[in-house]
Amino acid sequence: MGVEICVEGLTKSFGHQVIWQDVSLTLPAGEVSVMLGPSGTGKSVFLKTLVGLLKPDRGSVKVAGRDITKLREHELYEVRKLFGVLFQDGALFGSMSLYDNIAFPLREHTRKSESQIRRIVLDKMDMVGLIGSEGKLPGEISGGMRKRAGLARALVLDPEIILFDEPDSGLDPVRVAYLNQLIVDLNAQINATFLIVTHDIASARQVPDNIGLLFRRELVMFGPREELLTSDEPVVRQFLNGRMQGPIGMAEEKDAAQVEQELARLGDADRKPRHVGNDMTPRLMPGPGIARPPRWEAIARREAELHRKAVTGA
Ligand SMILES: Nc1ncnc2c1ncn2[C@@H]1O[C@H](COP(=O)(O)OP(=O)(O)O)[C@@H](O)[C@H]1O
Ligand SMILES: [Mg+2]
Repeated sequence: MGVEICVEGLTKSFGHQVIWQDVSLTLPAGEVSVMLGPSGTGKSVFLKTLVGLLKPDRGSVKVAGRDITKLREHELYEVRKLFGVLFQDGALFGSMSLYDNIAFPLREHTRKSESQIRRIVLDKMDMVGLIGSEGKLPGEISGGMRKRAGLARALVLDPEIILFDEPDSGLDPVRVAYLNQLIVDLNAQINATFLIVTHDIASARQVPDNIGLLFRRELVMFGPREELLTSDEPVVRQFLNGRMQGPIGMAEEKDAAQVEQELARLGDADRKPRHVGNDMTPRLMPGPGIARPPRWEAIARREAELHRKAVTGA
């Protein structure tokens, strides 16, 4: 049913380079959260720290109540089985068929028979829409299909938590839209806790329950989607609206003077809070035929209310 991940005071550096510090957030069980941030802000490092592949300098990561930063290697191995990870490049073995790639974790970590494995692999391939491509090699298929194969592989051990590292990178907008729908559908079907790292604003606006933003070595904000989408925090607003003006520059960080100038130029109109609703993108709902988990009732009500406010301005 998905487990909660509770991060407290997490700090990570490599040598003298602090990547991020004092990050605290809770990923609610069964919900979809997105972590946004410009390139190089340490999003991948964050995911690797959550699964215990990297050790933080300080802080704790509690997975279902157990602090994984304190576990020994063999205990960590057990906790890691709760996680499915979709790495940025799909991380498929190039010389193996999709079938064998997806079967790999089952053959490595379980004693299931080949017929049991076959049932699971075909079930997961069906979930991600890859039936018929069992014999294909990763090099013979599109980037979108490779992501879906990586996702099927992340699903075979029935994870409680799935981490996605930039699932949308390298895909065209249509494929990103399909993948986002797939993510929403999967979450409704398996109810695992999802964390998606991305710098794609459109995905961040449509897909998650919660959004976080990493910037300048800090977690600027983390909270429910509506809160971030209607926030007045300058970095959050700039990032979620994809603007040129604001604290985030091409070189990721602009100097303070330039930020001041731009904020001054923005003027009052743009700094005022807008109507709730104006900034609201509708949330992606699970597709037809997919039973919605109970929390979707509340989401649908909130969506309807925001829509009403946007239309009536009240
Ligand atoms: N194993 C490592 N050793 C040293 N530096 C690293 C290591 N992994 C990542 N970094 C550094 O951490 C920073 C953040 O990297 P990364 O997490 O890949 O950013 P993002 O995924 O947000 O683009 C980069 O400056 C990168 O060079
Ligand atoms: Mg990365």
